[in-house]
Amino acid sequence: MSSILPPAKRIWWKEPVEKLEVWWIVIAFLWALVLFFMMPYWHVFGKQNLSNEAYRISAAQFQQKTQEMVDKYTVRTETELNIPVVQPPAGSDVYLIARLWQWWPILELEKDKTYRLHLSAMDYQHGFSLQPENINLQVVPDYEMVVTITPNKTGSFAIVCNEYCGIGHHQMVSRMYVK
Ligand code: CUA
Repeated sequence: MSSILPPAKRIWWKEPVEKLEVWWIVIAFLWALVLFFMMPYWHVFGKQNLSNEAYRISAAQFQQKTQEMVDKYTVRTETELNIPVVQPPAGSDVYLIARLWQWWPILELEKDKTYRLHLSAMDYQHGFSLQPENINLQVVPDYEMVVTITPNKTGSFAIVCNEYCGIGHHQMVSRMYVK
């Protein structure tokens, strides 16, 4: 029989379920439970799944706050990217803009100091991914995501956009310095 022909007239939903299929349903259900409980587990015992707060904010307001920080604390310009490097005081609120197709500015933070990192998008949804630490957060327009971070290693960390945002998505990379 081919699928072009109409199906045989039978009450298919009343037939007994195959044993093998029952096993697959059981396995899938157990695996779903494992994944479900991994979420709270990883939040409490892992170091990547950070608690975040979200607040409504317009793109213009967020841009203004970021600009204020950049005006006050820029220490140099990364010449090949033409993006300011900002060194905000330890313990302060720091801002990072995601937009087509750039992270702005570059933050330079101090090791073992705590900061409140604010993230927002100016246009479409982007994804903040800090590597190799593997900290991942959604960045959406009209909301600011706030996370408390305490860098515990010095160095240069990569920021990549991990949410497809158009033709320049693969170029939306930046870095964060910790010293
Ligand atoms: Cu921004 Cu992909």
